[in-house]
Amino acid sequence: MNQKIIIGNWKNYLNYEESIHLSKKISKINISNNVRVMVSPNHLYLNEINQIFNETNIEVIAQNVTSSESKSDTGGITVSNLKNLNIKRSIVAHSESRIREKNPQKVLEEIIPIAYQFVLCFEEIDQIPFNLLTNKFEIILAYEPVWAIGTGETASIDHINEIHKKVKLKLEDFSLEIPILYGGSVNPSNSRDILESDYVDGVLVGGASTKIDHFEGILNSI
Ligand code: 13P
Repeated sequence: MNQKIIIGNWKNYLNYEESIHLSKKISKINISNNVRVMVSPNHLYLNEINQIFNETNIEVIAQNVTSSESKSDTGGITVSNLKNLNIKRSIVAHSESRIREKNPQKVLEEIIPIAYQFVLCFEEIDQIPFNLLTNKFEIILAYEPVWAIGTGETASIDHINEIHKKVKLKLEDFSLEIPILYGGSVNPSNSRDILESDYVDGVLVGGASTKIDHFEGILNSI
């Protein structure tokens, strides 16, 4: 996998104006062919932001999906809602949404059969349902140790490599070819070292992705 994947998860850091402003700035960045970029704004702004990135190679993805098509899912975000807005992928099981959502495994059981693309976050290897994963459509994994999220305490390269290596071996056992990203306090000062690792297929960036100069620094670090 030559291209590294860089995803900006804006969480709920930005209001409407800030999200639009950042989107317009990011859409003007000259991005190297080495990287593939995705941004994940608040659900409420997905449609408008998707239009902004329409003419670029940047993909706009959702921060969460709660069911496939359920009609009795108050406050939920369904795959059909997202497909309606031409949003083709969602983060799933982020540690911050896992706190309030139903079992992410259940969501995966609903969205995998309908081939909806996703970025599955995990902090422990046994949270990955290897038997459900498939090569039939694009799936991305993201190792996000909770202690590194938003704390400024990035995991060491050795630690990241160790976990990613274990996951890659397991993926091989299941004949799966799935990229693994690292997330947790990635910033422009540490992104190069992380992205240079052969075990790391990209990064999932929170806070630093909401500041144009930081995000641009990360995009340019490889
Ligand atoms: P930070 O980069 O702010 O630590 O957040 C990581 C994260 O949770 C990305 O999904």
